[in-house]
Amino acid sequence: MAAKVTMPSLPEKPLSNVPLQLHQPKNFQFDSVPESHAWLDLHDHPTVEPIGPDTVPLIDLTDPKLTAKISKACEEWGVFQITGHGIQPDFLTRLEAQIHRLFALPADLKLNAAKSPGDVSGYGLVPISSFFSKLMWSEGFTISGSPLHHAQKLWPDDYSSFCDVVEEFDNVMRQLGNKLLHKILLSLGLSKEDIIRACPVRDWHDMSAAVQLNSYPPCPDPDRTIGLAAHTDSSFLTLLYQNSVSGLQVLRPKDHTGPMRWVTVPPVPNTFTVNIGDLMHVLSNGRFRSVMHRAMVNPAKHRISVGFFCGPPMDVKVGPINKLTGPERGPVYRPVTWQEYQRLRRKLFDKALEAIKIGEEIA
Ligand code: OGA
Ligand code: NI
Repeated sequence: MAAKVTMPSLPEKPLSNVPLQLHQPKNFQFDSVPESHAWLDLHDHPTVEPIGPDTVPLIDLTDPKLTAKISKACEEWGVFQITGHGIQPDFLTRLEAQIHRLFALPADLKLNAAKSPGDVSGYGLVPISSFFSKLMWSEGFTISGSPLHHAQKLWPDDYSSFCDVVEEFDNVMRQLGNKLLHKILLSLGLSKEDIIRACPVRDWHDMSAAVQLNSYPPCPDPDRTIGLAAHTDSSFLTLLYQNSVSGLQVLRPKDHTGPMRWVTVPPVPNTFTVNIGDLMHVLSNGRFRSVMHRAMVNPAKHRISVGFFCGPPMDVKVGPINKLTGPERGPVYRPVTWQEYQRLRRKLFDKALEAIKIGEEIA
């Protein structure tokens, strides 16, 4: 049955129970931002352009000084962009085309692939929506496992071009994610032997991963709304591909060059943005901090992005690596599986990392 797309009413409580058809009213065709999507607290910190010391590090993965560069970027930023990753531009063009094809479908058709309650995969609100009483200017499609089931519902006669690209993406990104995970562990000062002993991911087949497709339609008044509210990712690390439209911002702490500020991560063709997630924060005992980020929207252009979330195998508990805890400090976090941590995040959102802290804070 085709669902009707109607105007949203202003929700009074978090949105987890808001019917799906309300989240993308009129396919985002508005002359102004409706109250349901109007956010009040967007200008908590100034936004700065990516210049001078506020330039997000760009790292070539074939650089002979790679480990040192990753170490500096993770310590100072928690985010960097990569070239030299080996993924072909043609493939990224094909991926982008399939994402546009998906989000350009009529709303009632997309709802055929809607995320069922309690499910991870499918079309709908972006995953963090349930924590906010306002709607975000975006649509999401999460893929955990095979995309086939949902793709067949969207394109009964022509699902394979979408599935092929998504499956290839999953395959190449697992390998790239695993390589980066190992480089990041090396950059923490661990030896190859230490990594074999302590890394929760043994090889790239072993990694748990999810793909998140995001669509940010043009917005008549981008200063009044947000595409994706500020958050950290729960993963070890996330690799994000964005099209040529700017929108991603990361929060920089106060330092000698300025106050706490949002820094734009500009789209650079054929690069991925890598960011440190909460589980890497745990694994490194807080040395590599997970980075707060958000997505803004554009007045004229449609922005799309694809996040690839890399995490440990579902049954493996992740705690601080012994060698990184030191005799005095000891482990700061208790071990958790990705699933346990995601459950905590659903309950506590940005307080989840604090909730698994042990030691001085709790004593
Ligand atoms: C995410 C995310 C940023 C973007 O999906 O977790 O942070 O620019 N996306 O879409
Ligand atoms: Ni994110």
